[in-house]
Amino acid sequence: MNICIIGTGYVGLCTGVGLASRGHKVFCVDIDSGKVDKINRGQAPIYEDGLEEMLQKVLEDDKIKATTDLKEAISETDICFISVPTPSMQDGSIELKYIKRVAEDVGSVLKNLDKYYVVVVKSTIVPGTTEDAVKPLIEQASGKSAGNGFGICMNPEFLREGYALKDFLNPDRIIIGQDDSKAGDVVNQVYSGFQAPIMRTNIKTAEMIKYTANSLLATKISFSNEIGNVCKKLGIDVYDVMKGVGMDNRISEKFLGAGCGFGGSCFPKDVAALAARAEKLGVNPMLLRQVLETNRNQKSVLVEQLKTSIDDLQGKKIAVLGLAFNPNTDDIRESPAIEIISRLKEIGANVIAYDPKASENMRAIFPDINYADNVKDALKEADACLIITAWDEFKNLSDDDFGLMRGNVIIEGRKVLKYENVKSFQGICW
Ligand code: UDX
Ligand code: UDX
Repeated sequence: MNICIIGTGYVGLCTGVGLASRGHKVFCVDIDSGKVDKINRGQAPIYEDGLEEMLQKVLEDDKIKATTDLKEAISETDICFISVPTPSMQDGSIELKYIKRVAEDVGSVLKNLDKYYVVVVKSTIVPGTTEDAVKPLIEQASGKSAGNGFGICMNPEFLREGYALKDFLNPDRIIIGQDDSKAGDVVNQVYSGFQAPIMRTNIKTAEMIKYTANSLLATKISFSNEIGNVCKKLGIDVYDVMKGVGMDNRISEKFLGAGCGFGGSCFPKDVAALAARAEKLGVNPMLLRQVLETNRNQKSVLVEQLKTSIDDLQGKKIAVLGLAFNPNTDDIRESPAIEIISRLKEIGANVIAYDPKASENMRAIFPDINYADNVKDALKEADACLIITAWDEFKNLSDDDFGLMRGNVIIEGRKVLKYENVKSFQGICW
């Protein structure tokens, strides 16, 4: 099929490249001409595991093209997926201006389009938004009604940054929220080659599935962190506890990884948006609020632990390993590293940070800390080391590397180090 993707962030680009690798012809639209040029040159504008290689392959096969021209992309295709950002606003609710603008632009193109066309929302939006905001804008701008001339669907993404391409190509399930079955059939056809169960439902339910899945995953993490804080006091390793707990297949051990908390562009934002929506509906979202609060606190646990190991942190050199919110990505949105570095700076510590991919992005937030080119340089003469992101590169660090430090305080926020390689280190929750 010929498919248009609007917005080439990590969701849009991974979806586009993934669909192209499955033989579809994909037109990626973005308002940022710099990104469009890069994509057409075979350079991924973001770092995502395996993305650039696969982008180059599908470009060679002439299966993908990036453009700023929405009209051209829509006229060449039968379906578009909207994946522009829906960031948080001050009160936790989501910013709809990008998706609303895109809905109007798509509607204007549909006005003069002489074929049936399906518009699919992939961006995460609170239940009711596709029907109450996106659909009416397309209808107004196109002069057509949904189900007549164009179809509308909602197809949430479940892509973990850092593993987004892999997740896209191997989904656990595909959720299609449809306004009518004709539109849903077209989305179904896009995924016909995928080995995954497809659930078709109404649009609002699809939107709610996305928020509920992310909120439950975030709840599992905050729950583990709270149990982990108790385990720490009792001298128990929470990872062993969760291994035993997760063997119950009603629970599963996935997303029970305690540490310095969740970040990223989704969990914090989606839980806050669902809580804000619940409040507007007169439901008190006590659990959701607490999930966020526990997560916020968890970031200070690491710094508090450091303070108990080193009395006066003023002027002390602290190596921070890992800046991205997840391994295998250069994305630092809501990364626990941001809060941790801010706290260290407040105390007057001298931070030297290292990340295999995310240093440049972090430099925009903290231009005044030091950045090392590799782990060894970060560790040299450091008084303490904090591990924030579970990059593979940190897994094999050993006493030889930590021997470069002046001090001996190593605090692990992700459980990546191995006891056989490093004799003495502290875990945040173990
Ligand atoms: C996505 C989503 O779609 C969001 O709803 C979800 O919760 C998380 O994932 P993401 O891929 O992270 O967002 O977005 P981002 O990396 O910020 O990129 C969005 C792209 O859309 C950018 O390339 C931007 O230039 C483009 N864009 C933005 C448009 O093309 N048009 C616009 O009007 C706004
Ligand atoms: C999430 C969802 O997992 C994905 O389905 C999609 O809806 C987008 O949002 P993402 O935020 O990109 O994906 O990455 P994910 O791997 O879920 O990690 C989110 C954060 O949780 C990271 O900061 C990670 O370190 C943290 N995390 C994850 C934990 O602290 N413990 C865990 O056990 C798992």
